[in-house]
Amino acid sequence: MKFNTKTIHGGQHEVDPAYGSVMPPIYQTSTYSQSTPGGHKGFEYSRSGNPTRSALERSLASLENGKFGLAFASGLAAIDAVIKLLKPGDEVVSTSDLYGGSYRLFTKIFEDLGIKFHFIGMENAATIENYINDKTKLIWVETPTNPMMNIIDIKATAAIAKKHNVLLAVDSTFATPYLQKPLDLGADIVMHSATKYLGGHSDVVMGALVVKEEKLAEKLYFIQNASGAVCGPQDSFLVLRGIKTLHIRMQRHCENGKAIANFLKNHPKIEKVYWPGFEDHANHEIAKSQMEDFGGMISFVTKGNDYDQAIKIVENLKVFTLAESLGGVESLAGHPASMTHASIPKEEREKTGVVDSLIRLSVGIEDIDDLIADLEQAIG
Ligand SMILES: Cc1ncc(COP(=O)(O)O)c(C=O)c1O
Repeated sequence: MKFNTKTIHGGQHEVDPAYGSVMPPIYQTSTYSQSTPGGHKGFEYSRSGNPTRSALERSLASLENGKFGLAFASGLAAIDAVIKLLKPGDEVVSTSDLYGGSYRLFTKIFEDLGIKFHFIGMENAATIENYINDKTKLIWVETPTNPMMNIIDIKATAAIAKKHNVLLAVDSTFATPYLQKPLDLGADIVMHSATKYLGGHSDVVMGALVVKEEKLAEKLYFIQNASGAVCGPQDSFLVLRGIKTLHIRMQRHCENGKAIANFLKNHPKIEKVYWPGFEDHANHEIAKSQMEDFGGMISFVTKGNDYDQAIKIVENLKVFTLAESLGGVESLAGHPASMTHASIPKEEREKTGVVDSLIRLSVGIEDIDDLIADLEQAIG
């Protein structure tokens, strides 16, 4: 089955036995009757499993060419489950430019529990090997990175992970399975904030993991059930519905993203634009080889690194909404230093390029003329 069919039918082989409804029903229930203790029809309690969530989890597995999907209450809950595979004393090598909430979870929760994180630039994958020792259990990669749009070579990183017998997890939120499939490139775990493009309509907070290997799936399922950060049936339904249009939404996100990246690049008041589709992007060739297209996320800095000008731009925007998050049908603008990445100390943030004048755009699927006109008037 091709991807554009999988978004609609992938993992959805089980027709509703009651009335044949085309969409899986929302099983808004916490529990299930049993004829005798243990005598149930596959579900006993909705933290452990729910038919609507299972339909979504099968869809996720299908989209990523994996075997097992797991849906969580948020992207961070999904990341939390991955790190819970580890024990005190274990070490993780992580991308240094990553979502601020992931950094906060790693440094403020898991470091206190005895797990050590090495945050490094991974644009040259070979560098990762310098940080691997016999305590290393996981490589955590975000690509494209949030918000600097760095690209990490998943295939090369997977080869390093295999050589040292450590797990490779990829936060593929910015790319979605439409653009990149980390499991096909050798990763062990792919993670998504389904809040973003998978849901696609800015109405749900959710996370997802997909794996191929059964033993790893069993461990993650144990954590999902034991820790209990699951998503509800209503939200599962909404993300399943969102996924059905993922391919056409992503097509438009990419088209609009390209037009806006080029518009900003040629604007005299803009200093630098970060977007992996540019030929002069440091890892453009890797992006071309591991992604189908370059997506709708763009970051840029104003000429002279002017903080006041950056704030004026985000305040002046009318079609773009100044808001946290990304990946919905509507265009959003954000100021990472004070919003999504405020939990990273300024010194650390600036090392990766997240300066105070950086603006991040999540380009939506509105008419491109309106989006460019909006940026034009806001930049002035
Ligand atoms: C790349 C990335 N990973 C993870 C997350 C966390 O996801 P959630 O907000 O659904 O917990 C986000 C949220 O912005 C993100 O951008």
